[in-house]
Amino acid sequence: MWHDLLIDCSALSCEGLLLAYPRWLSPDELHRAEKLHRPEDRTLFLAGRVGVRRLLADYHSLNPCAVTLAANAFGKPILREAPLPDLDFSISHAWPYTLIAVSRGCAVGVDIENAGRDIDPQRLWRRFFAAAEVATLEALPAKEQRDAFFELWTLKEAYIKAVGEGLSLGLDSFTVHRGVPPHTAAPAHGGTWTLAHTTWPGSFHAAAACLSSTPLPSPIHLDITPSIL
Ligand SMILES: CC(C)(COP(=O)(O)OP(=O)(O)OC[C@H]1O[C@@H](n2cnc3c(N)ncnc32)[C@H](O)[C@@H]1OP(=O)(O)O)[C@@H](O)C(=O)NCCC(=O)NCCS
Repeated sequence: MWHDLLIDCSALSCEGLLLAYPRWLSPDELHRAEKLHRPEDRTLFLAGRVGVRRLLADYHSLNPCAVTLAANAFGKPILREAPLPDLDFSISHAWPYTLIAVSRGCAVGVDIENAGRDIDPQRLWRRFFAAAEVATLEALPAKEQRDAFFELWTLKEAYIKAVGEGLSLGLDSFTVHRGVPPHTAAPAHGGTWTLAHTTWPGSFHAAAACLSSTPLPSPIHLDITPSIL
């Protein structure tokens, strides 16, 4: 089972979210929000934590205030206790969007990036990516390289977030192959990987990765329809 939610935060504000969902967030989350300097970052963060509680609570008709979150040793948010067995979730932000995925029966990771960012893709792929990915990107016509880089970047970040060990897992320690669907052998983590990638106007790329002990019954599909909290 799999559910994702794309929240368009352009019409939201942190003050509005705190008023609308006064008891949904923990003291630790409120403290984290306060420490974020940019209002946009606070809004994305709060939207993610409110949105993920809504999705998790829906699975078991719980009050979202009863969903308490913690983090593993690498910072991956997890459910603190077990009223919601076998559920995993992942959050990613790129203004104005917060992307959330919840899954049952598989570890999940999602990533969203704005390809319009002012970065040098070639410098990044040469520094961080696996040799086979570098070869794939450098064989492409120059006009296709930027989008192909963001496709691989989001897929690799989604993979890292599903594993949950953060950047202690080097971006060059596994290889993602573009394709329909994209795939990875990923022997270090066993199980069966299912990957998905999508784009939409405004230069956004998003990807999801699921790790399950058995193949998922159907491909995962990223629903990019914006949903407002
Ligand atoms: C922290 C990291 C997991 C993702 O960071 P990011 O891409 O900058 O930011 P995103 O918005 O996509 O993800 C942030 C969310 O990841 C989640 N997260 C944090 N640590 C995590 C971990 N170890 N595993 C899974 N998810 C994690 C949190 O939910 C966080 O959201 P929150 O602020 O609501 O708690 C990490 O992979 C990272 O720093 N990546 C950047 C790598 C990079 O710059 N590479 C160079 C280019 S190739």
